Amino acid sequence: MDRYVTGALIKSLREESGMTQQQLAARIDVGDKAVSRWECGRGYPDITLLEPLARALGVSVAELVAGSDVRNANRSSNMLRARLYVCPVCGNVLQATGEAMVSCCGITLPALEADPAEGEHEVRAACVEDELYVSAEHPMGKLHYLSFLVAVSPDRVQLVKLYPEGPAAARFRLAGVRRVYAYCNRHGLFYKDLR
Ligand SMILES: [Fe+2]
Repeated sequence: MDRYVTGALIKSLREESGMTQQQLAARIDVGDKAVSRWECGRGYPDITLLEPLARALGVSVAELVAGSDVRNANRSSNMLRARLYVCPVCGNVLQATGEAMVSCCGITLPALEADPAEGEHEVRAACVEDELYVSAEHPMGKLHYLSFLVAVSPDRVQLVKLYPEGPAAARFRLAGVRRVYAYCNRHGLFYKDLR
């Protein structure tokens, strides 16, 4: 956690939801002056208050702590706009169909930015029977390897976990795949668009 909740954010979320300082204080069971103190930057809510405070303000704890709220406009959930997140601490891989605040192991994860696949991160995609065979020439050693491949079509995200010493390849359902991603544990996310 690199930042704590700011008074300015509490104030703007409170005003947005049309509550007075007293009303907010009553909802989370703190004294009348507490909310005013936080909003003026003269104090911080105790960490045990983050959950009830977030609930009262209609945001997640992660949003409250990150200092920004997330409004997801991808309600139709076009999977081509799916975001991928990898936790640097535990290696957890998460996927969201749109904008999201994602946290794991106590840190807020940024959505991965992908670069075009080239050089050692080049990926090949070929139709084999009724499947899409995706492979790479990337090293698969214990310290540097591709840790997953993803095939994205408008209605689905297919993710296959890869392992050190294993093949840098996977098979996917072919239908509608428009983009493939490869994630390298050292160099990050790479993509290749299919025609
Ligand atoms: Fe790499």
